[in-house]
Amino acid sequence: MAGLVGAVPSLALLLLIATGTAAPAAGALALLATILAALLLARAWVGTLLGLEAALRAAAEGRPAPPRAPLLPVASGVAESAARLARSLAEREALVARLRRADAAIIEALPDPLLVLAEDRRPLRANAAARSFFGTDAGRDGADDTADTAAFLRHPRIAGAVDRALAEGTPQSAEAMLPVPVARDLSTQVIPLNPPLSDGGRLLVVLADRTQARAAERMRADFVANASHELRTPLASIIGFVETLRGPAAGDPEASTRFLAIIAEQADRMRRLIEDLLGLSRIEMTEHQAPTGEARLDALARDETAAMAPILASRNVTLNLDLAPATAVPADPGQLAQVLRNLLENAVRHGREGGTVTLSVRSLAAREGSLPPGVLLRIADDGPGIAREHIPRLTERFYRVDSGRSRSAGGTGLGLAIVKHIVSHHRGQLLIESEPGQGTTMRVWLPGR
Ligand SMILES: Nc1ncnc2c1ncn2[C@@H]1O[C@H](COP(=O)(O)OP(=O)(O)OP(=O)(O)O)[C@@H](O)[C@H]1O
Ligand SMILES: [Mg+2]
Repeated sequence: MAGLVGAVPSLALLLLIATGTAAPAAGALALLATILAALLLARAWVGTLLGLEAALRAAAEGRPAPPRAPLLPVASGVAESAARLARSLAEREALVARLRRADAAIIEALPDPLLVLAEDRRPLRANAAARSFFGTDAGRDGADDTADTAAFLRHPRIAGAVDRALAEGTPQSAEAMLPVPVARDLSTQVIPLNPPLSDGGRLLVVLADRTQARAAERMRADFVANASHELRTPLASIIGFVETLRGPAAGDPEASTRFLAIIAEQADRMRRLIEDLLGLSRIEMTEHQAPTGEARLDALARDETAAMAPILASRNVTLNLDLAPATAVPADPGQLAQVLRNLLENAVRHGREGGTVTLSVRSLAAREGSLPPGVLLRIADDGPGIAREHIPRLTERFYRVDSGRSRSAGGTGLGLAIVKHIVSHHRGQLLIESEPGQGTTMRVWLPGR
């Protein structure tokens, strides 16, 4: 460097001295000065270049520039620009990392189960919902490779949708029924990702569990079938008897009286059924909003039992009352009267003819067993009781243990369904205890004092 910078002037001076144009002494002095200046200049440049190199390396590695001897002004400008560039690159990198973390967090938090698949259909990622859906360890956020995930991806409809999504590059959907570990109805969307995710994710598989919705649809269909069946039976009998009255029994006053009584009874049965169904749908409609009033349960119980006198007498049932002051709050008195009526009617109708029914009402000042403070209604009979396997299903609409016997007793199987809806509307609990041959005890706990 020094040689290059100093060579030309030095050679010129040497030529001048050699040709005698310059005086030897002055020429030698000039030569010395030139060489010295060249050396100094070269040193300054080498230092600057080394400094610049160090500064650029530091910038590239994202470190602050090391303190150094001051650089030449041109070079220090370059070093500063490089540092600025490095800083903005680092900021952008941090931003990208933050965005990627936000994406991952959004996917992780989505309520629907979601899988990310690689080009070779291998699961790369599964969000929390998918991990709990497929029963993978919830703490892991890596690939979901349980047997259930594999079985799901092997399902012909799902595999077909994945193939189509990859081949056509457009979202595909598939409905599939997974039999294990519990039967589930899944609606699946397979969305191709173009460009792929940074981890190589090529497909997004979004699952929606339709099991409950399908069950609700089935229940609604069953309900309509049951309701129309229940209405069709009395209606068929009414039509049959009307035809008999117009035909063979026309002009037979004795038969007319008998048939008209049956017709009236069947019509009344239809009326009750329709009233119950309407009541049930009314309660269901308001089930999500809590009641606003309050109800003196002991007073309600007294009124309802007074109204039951005829049916108590017809079944020769003795009623024991044990009523202490108890107020259900928040409560709908009309609905709670219906609960009392339905439970009392069941105890009398499904209990023992000539038996005893006990109705007690009291408030619970403190927690009692599993029941928090509130009010408690208890109706016990000494009838035939209910076999264990029927108890969980008693509150289903139209469910009757012995449908023949219940129907002949005028039952439609809606009473306990109505009770259950009213109790849950009141945020209460219905507890059914029964032992065949030992009688049945129904308890209703409600919030109150
Ligand atoms: N105290 C009881 N003892 C024995 N069986 C009962 C008792 N209460 C209810 N059951 C059984 O539970 C079934 C369902 O009762 P639920 O009140 O829902 O219907 P139902 O009494 O038959 O008809 P509805 O009340 O609609 O007129 C009854 O058919 C009966 O078999
Ligand atoms: Mg009933």
